[in-house]
Amino acid sequence: MSIQTIHVTASRDYDVLIGSGLLKETGKHLRAVHAPCRVAVISDSNVAALYMDTVLASLKEEGFETLPFRFPAGERSKTLDVVSGMLDFIANHHLTRTDLIVALGGGVTGDMAGFAAATYLRGIDYVQIPTTLLAAVDSSVGGKTAVDLRAGKNLVGAFKQPLCVLCDIDTFDTLPEEVFRDGCAECIKYGVLESPSLLKIFSEGTAKEHIADVVAESVRIKADYVAKDEFDTGVRRFLNLGHTIGHAVERTAKYSLMHGHCVAIGMVMISRAGEKLGLTEPGTTDALIRICETNGLPVSCDYSAEALLESALSDKKRRGEQITLILPKKLGACMEHTVPVSELESILRLGKETSV
Ligand code: NAD
Ligand code: GLY
Repeated sequence: MSIQTIHVTASRDYDVLIGSGLLKETGKHLRAVHAPCRVAVISDSNVAALYMDTVLASLKEEGFETLPFRFPAGERSKTLDVVSGMLDFIANHHLTRTDLIVALGGGVTGDMAGFAAATYLRGIDYVQIPTTLLAAVDSSVGGKTAVDLRAGKNLVGAFKQPLCVLCDIDTFDTLPEEVFRDGCAECIKYGVLESPSLLKIFSEGTAKEHIADVVAESVRIKADYVAKDEFDTGVRRFLNLGHTIGHAVERTAKYSLMHGHCVAIGMVMISRAGEKLGLTEPGTTDALIRICETNGLPVSCDYSAEALLESALSDKKRRGEQITLILPKKLGACMEHTVPVSELESILRLGKETSV
Protein backbone atom coordinates (compact mmCIF):
# COMPACT_ATOMS: atom_id res chain seq x y z
CA MET A 1 0.00 0.00 0.00
CA SER A 2 1.30 3.46 -0.82
CA ILE A 3 2.04 6.07 1.82
CA GLN A 4 -0.10 9.22 1.91
CA THR A 5 1.75 12.34 3.02
CA ILE A 6 0.04 15.39 4.48
CA HIS A 7 2.20 18.46 5.00
CA VAL A 8 1.59 20.59 8.08
CA THR A 9 2.56 24.24 7.88
CA ALA A 10 3.33 25.69 11.31
CA SER A 11 6.15 27.45 13.22
CA ARG A 12 7.99 24.28 12.23
CA ASP A 13 6.70 22.45 9.16
CA TYR A 14 6.47 18.66 9.11
CA ASP A 15 4.91 15.74 7.30
CA VAL A 16 2.32 13.26 8.50
CA LEU A 17 2.91 9.86 6.83
CA ILE A 18 -0.08 7.53 6.70
CA GLY A 19 0.11 3.93 5.52
CA SER A 20 0.34 0.25 6.26
CA GLY A 21 3.50 -1.34 7.69
CA LEU A 22 5.13 1.94 8.75
CA LEU A 23 6.14 0.74 12.23
CA LYS A 24 8.73 -1.66 10.89
CA GLU A 25 10.12 1.21 8.81
CA THR A 26 10.32 3.63 11.75
CA GLY A 27 14.13 3.82 11.55
CA LYS A 28 14.10 4.64 7.84
CA HIS A 29 11.52 7.41 8.26
CA LEU A 30 13.31 8.95 11.25
CA ARG A 31 16.59 8.77 9.34
CA ALA A 32 14.97 10.95 6.67
CA VAL A 33 14.43 13.77 9.19
CA HIS A 34 17.18 13.26 11.78
CA ALA A 35 20.71 11.90 12.04
CA PRO A 36 21.22 8.75 14.16
CA CYS A 37 21.11 9.65 17.86
CA ARG A 38 19.75 8.40 21.15
CA VAL A 39 15.98 7.97 21.14
CA ALA A 40 13.77 7.69 24.22
CA VAL A 41 10.75 5.68 23.06
CA ILE A 42 7.80 6.45 25.35
CA SER A 43 4.86 4.07 25.38
CA ASP A 44 2.10 2.87 27.69
CA SER A 45 1.96 -0.69 29.02
CA ASN A 46 -0.64 -1.90 26.46
CA VAL A 47 1.00 -0.42 23.40
CA ALA A 48 4.54 -1.31 24.49
CA ALA A 49 3.54 -4.98 24.78
CA LEU A 50 2.25 -4.91 21.21
CA TYR A 51 4.60 -2.63 19.29
CA MET A 52 7.68 -1.55 21.26
CA ASP A 53 9.93 -4.36 19.98
CA THR A 54 9.13 -3.63 16.32
CA VAL A 55 9.91 0.06 16.72
CA LEU A 56 13.13 -0.54 18.69
CA ALA A 57 14.40 -3.09 16.16
CA SER A 58 13.73 -0.77 13.24
CA LEU A 59 15.44 2.17 14.94
CA LYS A 60 18.51 0.06 15.81
CA GLU A 61 18.77 -1.13 12.20
CA GLU A 62 19.22 2.48 11.13
CA GLY A 63 21.86 3.24 13.77
CA PHE A 64 19.71 4.84 16.49
CA GLU A 65 20.44 3.99 20.13
CA THR A 66 17.13 3.14 21.80
CA LEU A 67 15.93 3.81 25.36
CA PRO A 68 12.45 2.39 26.00
CA PHE A 69 10.27 3.94 28.71
CA ARG A 70 6.93 2.42 29.71
CA PHE A 71 4.18 3.77 31.99
CA PRO A 72 0.83 2.25 33.08
CA ALA A 73 -1.84 2.71 30.38
CA GLY A 74 -4.74 5.08 30.94
CA GLU A 75 -5.74 8.71 31.41
CA ARG A 76 -4.95 8.42 35.13
CA SER A 77 -1.27 8.32 34.18
CA LYS A 78 -1.43 11.70 32.42
CA THR A 79 0.06 13.51 35.39
CA LEU A 80 3.07 15.62 36.25
CA ASP A 81 4.27 12.72 38.44
CA VAL A 82 4.51 10.35 35.49
CA VAL A 83 6.08 13.05 33.31
CA SER A 84 8.55 13.71 36.11
CA GLY A 85 9.58 10.02 36.05
CA MET A 86 9.91 10.25 32.27
CA LEU A 87 12.11 13.36 32.52
CA ASP A 88 14.31 11.71 35.17
CA PHE A 89 14.72 8.71 32.89
CA ILE A 90 15.67 10.94 29.96
CA ALA A 91 18.06 13.03 32.05
CA ASN A 92 19.67 9.96 33.64
CA HIS A 93 20.46 8.75 30.12
CA HIS A 94 21.97 12.14 29.35
CA LEU A 95 19.86 12.93 26.29
CA THR A 96 20.94 16.21 24.71
CA ARG A 97 19.24 18.63 22.36
CA THR A 98 20.52 16.59 19.42
CA ASP A 99 18.66 13.49 20.64
CA LEU A 100 15.01 12.54 20.18
CA ILE A 101 11.85 11.47 21.98
CA VAL A 102 9.36 9.18 20.26
CA ALA A 103 5.73 9.01 21.42
CA LEU A 104 4.42 5.53 20.55
CA GLY A 105 0.76 5.24 21.52
CA GLY A 106 -2.56 7.03 21.89
CA GLY A 107 -3.31 10.59 22.91
CA VAL A 108 -2.21 10.05 26.51
CA THR A 109 1.27 8.98 25.41
CA GLY A 110 1.50 11.70 22.76
CA ASP A 111 0.43 14.44 25.15
CA MET A 112 2.90 13.39 27.86
CA ALA A 113 5.88 12.60 25.64
CA GLY A 114 5.21 15.83 23.74
CA PHE A 115 5.12 17.80 26.99
CA ALA A 116 8.38 16.17 28.09
CA ALA A 117 9.90 17.12 24.71
CA ALA A 118 8.63 20.70 25.05
CA THR A 119 10.19 21.14 28.47
CA TYR A 120 13.33 18.95 28.70
CA LEU A 121 16.34 21.23 28.14
CA ARG A 122 13.76 23.88 27.13
CA GLY A 123 12.79 21.73 24.18
CA ILE A 124 14.11 18.78 22.18
CA ASP A 125 12.72 17.21 19.01
CA TYR A 126 10.10 14.49 19.13
CA VAL A 127 8.19 12.25 16.76
CA GLN A 128 4.59 11.15 17.09
CA ILE A 129 3.66 7.55 16.27
CA PRO A 130 -0.10 7.47 16.98
CA THR A 131 -1.67 4.05 17.55
CA THR A 132 -5.30 5.06 18.21
CA LEU A 133 -7.60 6.58 15.61
CA LEU A 134 -8.14 9.58 17.89
CA ALA A 135 -4.42 10.18 18.21
CA ALA A 136 -3.93 9.77 14.44
CA VAL A 137 -6.60 12.29 13.44
CA ASP A 138 -6.34 14.72 16.33
CA SER A 139 -3.80 14.68 19.14
CA SER A 140 -0.66 13.78 17.16
CA VAL A 141 -1.15 16.71 14.76
CA GLY A 142 -1.09 20.38 15.64
CA GLY A 143 1.40 20.55 18.50
CA LYS A 144 -0.85 20.71 21.56
CA THR A 145 0.68 18.80 24.48
CA ALA A 146 -0.67 18.65 28.02
CA VAL A 147 -1.03 16.85 31.32
CA ASP A 148 -3.92 16.80 33.78
CA LEU A 149 -3.99 18.41 37.20
CA ARG A 150 -6.27 17.45 40.07
CA ALA A 151 -8.12 20.69 39.22
CA GLY A 152 -8.93 19.54 35.70
CA LYS A 153 -7.86 17.94 32.43
CA ASN A 154 -5.11 19.34 30.21
CA LEU A 155 -4.45 22.34 32.44
CA VAL A 156 -0.67 22.30 32.03
CA GLY A 157 0.90 22.08 28.62
CA ALA A 158 2.78 23.64 25.76
CA PHE A 159 2.64 23.99 22.01
CA LYS A 160 5.36 21.81 20.54
CA GLN A 161 5.16 20.66 16.95
CA PRO A 162 6.68 17.22 16.23
CA LEU A 163 9.46 16.54 13.74
CA CYS A 164 7.17 14.17 11.87
CA VAL A 165 4.15 11.94 12.46
CA LEU A 166 4.16 8.27 11.42
CA CYS A 167 0.70 6.75 11.33
CA ASP A 168 0.71 2.99 10.74
CA ILE A 169 -2.94 2.12 10.13
CA ASP A 170 -2.24 -1.56 10.92
CA THR A 171 -2.01 -0.64 14.61
CA PHE A 172 -5.76 0.04 14.62
CA ASP A 173 -6.34 -3.71 14.12
CA THR A 174 -5.61 -4.31 17.81
CA LEU A 175 -7.74 -1.43 19.15
CA PRO A 176 -10.69 -2.33 21.39
CA GLU A 177 -13.89 -1.53 19.41
CA GLU A 178 -14.94 1.30 21.72
CA VAL A 179 -11.53 2.97 21.42
CA PHE A 180 -11.81 2.79 17.62
CA ARG A 181 -15.37 4.21 17.76
CA ASP A 182 -14.16 7.02 19.99
CA GLY A 183 -11.83 8.19 17.21
CA CYS A 184 -14.69 7.92 14.68
CA ALA A 185 -16.47 10.74 16.52
CA GLU A 186 -13.60 13.13 15.79
CA CYS A 187 -13.58 12.07 12.12
CA ILE A 188 -17.35 12.65 11.91
CA LYS A 189 -16.66 16.08 13.41
CA TYR A 190 -14.32 16.86 10.48
CA GLY A 191 -17.06 15.66 8.14
CA VAL A 192 -19.62 17.98 9.72
CA LEU A 193 -17.14 20.84 9.54
CA GLU A 194 -16.36 20.51 5.86
CA SER A 195 -15.97 17.06 4.32
CA PRO A 196 -18.63 15.38 2.13
CA SER A 197 -16.27 12.44 1.54
CA LEU A 198 -15.97 11.71 5.28
CA LEU A 199 -19.75 12.09 5.72
CA LYS A 200 -20.32 9.57 2.92
CA ILE A 201 -17.94 6.99 4.43
CA PHE A 202 -19.42 7.34 7.92
CA SER A 203 -23.01 7.35 6.60
CA GLU A 204 -22.25 4.03 4.95
CA GLY A 205 -20.48 2.69 8.05
CA THR A 206 -17.40 1.79 6.01
CA ALA A 207 -14.68 3.60 7.96
CA LYS A 208 -12.59 0.48 8.49
CA GLU A 209 -12.48 -0.32 4.77
CA HIS A 210 -11.36 3.24 3.99
CA ILE A 211 -9.28 3.90 7.06
CA ALA A 212 -6.19 5.34 5.33
CA ASP A 213 -8.35 7.83 3.42
CA VAL A 214 -10.34 8.64 6.58
CA VAL A 215 -7.13 9.47 8.44
CA ALA A 216 -5.64 11.41 5.52
CA GLU A 217 -8.76 13.54 4.97
CA SER A 218 -9.11 14.20 8.72
CA VAL A 219 -5.45 15.17 9.08
CA ARG A 220 -5.71 17.38 5.97
CA ILE A 221 -8.58 19.31 7.56
CA LYS A 222 -6.86 19.58 10.94
CA ALA A 223 -3.61 20.71 9.29
CA ASP A 224 -5.52 23.43 7.47
CA TYR A 225 -6.87 24.87 10.74
CA VAL A 226 -3.44 24.58 12.37
CA ALA A 227 -1.80 26.41 9.45
CA LYS A 228 -4.29 29.26 9.82
CA ASP A 229 -4.20 29.47 13.61
CA GLU A 230 -1.40 27.43 15.19
CA PHE A 231 -1.75 28.93 18.66
CA ASP A 232 -5.53 28.61 18.90
CA THR A 233 -6.57 32.23 19.10
CA GLY A 234 -9.07 32.23 16.21
CA VAL A 235 -10.41 29.80 13.61
CA ARG A 236 -8.86 26.73 15.25
CA ARG A 237 -11.79 26.94 17.64
CA PHE A 238 -13.95 25.38 14.89
CA LEU A 239 -12.25 22.11 15.92
CA ASN A 240 -14.25 22.45 19.15
CA LEU A 241 -17.49 21.52 17.37
CA GLY A 242 -19.41 19.35 19.84
CA HIS A 243 -16.79 19.92 22.54
CA THR A 244 -18.40 22.60 24.75
CA ILE A 245 -21.37 20.36 25.49
CA GLY A 246 -19.22 17.22 25.10
CA HIS A 247 -16.84 18.37 27.84
CA ALA A 248 -19.82 19.18 30.08
CA VAL A 249 -21.13 15.63 29.53
CA GLU A 250 -17.66 14.21 30.26
CA ARG A 251 -17.35 16.16 33.50
CA THR A 252 -20.91 15.37 34.60
CA ALA A 253 -20.19 11.68 33.97
CA LYS A 254 -17.00 12.05 36.05
CA TYR A 255 -15.02 10.86 33.03
CA SER A 256 -16.73 7.47 32.97
CA LEU A 257 -17.73 8.13 29.33
CA MET A 258 -15.04 8.34 26.65
CA HIS A 259 -14.19 11.72 25.12
CA GLY A 260 -15.26 10.97 21.54
CA HIS A 261 -18.52 9.46 22.72
CA CYS A 262 -19.25 12.72 24.58
CA VAL A 263 -18.30 14.75 21.50
CA ALA A 264 -20.88 12.79 19.49
CA ILE A 265 -23.55 13.66 22.08
CA GLY A 266 -22.35 17.28 22.07
CA MET A 267 -22.54 17.55 18.26
CA VAL A 268 -26.09 16.19 18.21
CA MET A 269 -27.23 18.50 21.02
CA ILE A 270 -25.74 21.65 19.51
CA SER A 271 -27.18 20.75 16.12
CA ARG A 272 -30.67 20.28 17.61
CA ALA A 273 -30.37 23.60 19.47
CA GLY A 274 -29.20 25.23 16.21
CA GLU A 275 -32.24 23.93 14.36
CA LYS A 276 -34.57 25.29 17.02
CA LEU A 277 -32.81 28.66 16.90
CA GLY A 278 -33.22 28.75 13.11
CA LEU A 279 -29.45 28.67 12.56
CA THR A 280 -29.14 25.07 11.40
CA GLU A 281 -30.81 23.61 8.32
CA PRO A 282 -33.82 21.45 9.30
CA GLY A 283 -33.06 17.73 9.12
CA THR A 284 -29.36 18.15 10.00
CA THR A 285 -29.78 16.65 13.47
CA ASP A 286 -31.66 13.57 12.26
CA ALA A 287 -28.99 12.96 9.61
CA LEU A 288 -26.22 13.39 12.20
CA ILE A 289 -27.96 11.01 14.60
CA ARG A 290 -28.11 8.37 11.85
CA ILE A 291 -24.37 8.80 11.14
CA CYS A 292 -23.41 8.54 14.82
CA GLU A 293 -25.63 5.52 15.42
CA THR A 294 -24.30 3.79 12.29
CA ASN A 295 -20.85 4.05 13.89
CA GLY A 296 -21.89 2.85 17.35
CA LEU A 297 -21.79 6.28 18.98
CA PRO A 298 -24.28 7.61 21.54
CA VAL A 299 -26.52 10.56 20.62
CA SER A 300 -28.02 11.56 23.96
CA CYS A 301 -27.42 11.52 27.69
CA ASP A 302 -29.69 11.42 30.72
CA TYR A 303 -28.14 14.41 32.50
CA SER A 304 -30.38 17.42 33.09
CA ALA A 305 -29.66 20.79 31.49
CA GLU A 306 -28.97 22.14 35.01
CA ALA A 307 -26.34 19.47 35.72
CA LEU A 308 -24.68 20.04 32.34
CA LEU A 309 -24.70 23.80 32.88
CA GLU A 310 -22.97 23.41 36.22
CA SER A 311 -20.26 21.29 34.61
CA ALA A 312 -19.90 23.71 31.70
CA LEU A 313 -19.52 26.65 34.08
CA SER A 314 -16.93 24.84 36.18
CA ASP A 315 -14.67 24.58 33.11
CA LYS A 316 -11.51 26.29 34.31
CA LYS A 317 -10.67 27.25 30.73
CA ARG A 318 -13.87 29.22 30.15
CA ARG A 319 -13.34 32.96 30.24
CA GLY A 320 -15.55 36.02 30.40
CA GLU A 321 -19.27 36.54 30.19
CA GLN A 322 -19.65 35.27 26.64
CA ILE A 323 -19.19 31.86 25.14
CA THR A 324 -18.55 31.03 21.49
CA LEU A 325 -20.23 27.85 20.33
CA ILE A 326 -19.54 26.14 17.03
CA LEU A 327 -22.65 24.79 15.39
CA PRO A 328 -23.53 23.26 12.04
CA LYS A 329 -25.29 25.44 9.44
CA LYS A 330 -25.81 22.10 7.71
CA LEU A 331 -23.74 18.92 7.40
CA GLY A 332 -20.44 20.07 5.88
CA ALA A 333 -20.54 23.73 6.94
CA CYS A 334 -20.34 25.29 10.40
CA MET A 335 -20.55 28.71 12.02
CA GLU A 336 -19.62 30.46 15.25
CA HIS A 337 -22.42 31.54 17.56
CA THR A 338 -21.41 33.77 20.46
CA VAL A 339 -23.91 34.08 23.29
CA PRO A 340 -23.92 35.46 26.84
CA VAL A 341 -23.12 32.68 29.29
CA SER A 342 -26.60 33.28 30.74
CA GLU A 343 -28.07 31.80 27.52
CA LEU A 344 -26.17 28.55 27.78
CA GLU A 345 -28.80 26.86 29.92
CA SER A 346 -31.57 27.52 27.39
CA ILE A 347 -29.30 26.21 24.61
CA LEU A 348 -28.68 23.04 26.63
CA ARG A 349 -32.44 22.67 27.09
CA LEU A 350 -33.06 23.13 23.37
CA GLY A 351 -30.32 20.57 22.70
CA LYS A 352 -31.89 17.98 24.96
CA GLU A 353 -35.54 18.23 24.03
CA THR A 354 -36.52 15.90 21.24
CA SER A 355 -39.96 17.44 20.58
CA VAL A 356 -39.83 20.49 18.29
P1 NAD B 1 -5.12 6.55 25.20
O1 NAD B 1 -3.80 7.00 24.77
O2 NAD B 1 -5.34 6.33 26.65
O3 NAD B 1 -5.49 5.22 24.41
C1 NAD B 1 -6.72 4.57 24.69
C2 NAD B 1 -6.48 3.11 25.08
O4 NAD B 1 -6.10 2.37 23.94
C3 NAD B 1 -5.36 2.91 26.11
O5 NAD B 1 -5.73 1.87 26.99
C4 NAD B 1 -4.19 2.42 25.25
O6 NAD B 1 -3.29 1.63 25.95
C5 NAD B 1 -4.90 1.64 24.20
N1 NAD B 1 -4.22 1.53 22.91
C6 NAD B 1 -3.62 2.52 22.22
N2 NAD B 1 -3.25 2.09 21.02
C7 NAD B 1 -3.58 0.78 20.95
C8 NAD B 1 -3.48 -0.21 19.94
N3 NAD B 1 -3.01 0.09 18.73
N4 NAD B 1 -3.93 -1.44 20.21
C9 NAD B 1 -4.50 -1.73 21.42
N5 NAD B 1 -4.65 -0.83 22.40
C10 NAD B 1 -4.19 0.42 22.17
O7 NAD B 1 -6.27 7.57 24.73
P2 NAD B 1 -6.67 8.22 23.33
O8 NAD B 1 -8.13 7.99 23.22
O9 NAD B 1 -5.77 7.77 22.22
O10 NAD B 1 -6.38 9.75 23.59
C11 NAD B 1 -7.05 10.47 24.60
C12 NAD B 1 -6.13 11.53 25.14
O11 NAD B 1 -5.77 12.41 24.08
C13 NAD B 1 -6.74 12.40 26.22
O12 NAD B 1 -5.84 12.52 27.27
C14 NAD B 1 -6.98 13.72 25.54
O13 NAD B 1 -6.92 14.81 26.43
C15 NAD B 1 -5.85 13.75 24.54
N6 NAD B 1 -6.10 14.61 23.37
C16 NAD B 1 -5.15 15.51 23.04
C17 NAD B 1 -5.32 16.33 21.93
C18 NAD B 1 -4.25 17.28 21.53
O14 NAD B 1 -4.45 18.05 20.59
N7 NAD B 1 -3.10 17.26 22.17
C19 NAD B 1 -6.48 16.21 21.15
C20 NAD B 1 -7.43 15.26 21.50
C21 NAD B 1 -7.23 14.46 22.63
N1 GLY C 1 -8.03 19.10 19.53
C1 GLY C 1 -8.32 20.43 19.09
C2 GLY C 1 -7.12 21.18 18.67
O1 GLY C 1 -6.07 20.61 18.46
O2 GLY C 1 -7.19 22.36 18.53
